[in-house]
Amino acid sequence: MTTILHIASSSNLHNSVSREIGAAAVEGLKKANAGAKVITRDLVQDPVPHIAPAFVDVLYTKPDAPELALSRTLVAEIVASDIIVIEAPMYNSTFRPY
Ligand SMILES: Cc1cc2nc3c(=O)[nH]c(=O)nc-3n(C[C@H](O)[C@H](O)[C@H](O)COP(=O)(O)O)c2cc1C
Repeated sequence: MTTILHIASSSNLHNSVSREIGAAAVEGLKKANAGAKVITRDLVQDPVPHIAPAFVDVLYTKPDAPELALSRTLVAEIVASDIIVIEAPMYNSTFRPY
């Protein structure tokens, strides 16, 4: 079974161009890959926090620490995916910082 990771990052929840294009891309991929599983990661409606001191404290010494739980989940989503759709609006000549 194909797994599609769909990442949204526009802060515009009403008429975002990247959200519209990304949704169309995912719909097309679902049609081309019958039964595909879609994992949605919306970085605006469910923000990923910046790296905190508690995260750095355990990063190299305690891989199972609860402070790294979200990081482990995010990595697992990428590893499990066959296709990744990244919606990326341009903010200040770059991607948003998360
Ligand atoms: C905070 C902010 C910064 C932006 N910075 C740029 C920019 O540097 N260059 C550019 O061409 N457009 C810039 N834009 C315009 C957006 O890239 C454009 O509105 C795009 O459609 C946003 O994606 P979205 O429709 O998916 O939200 C900016 C928009 C916002 C809200």
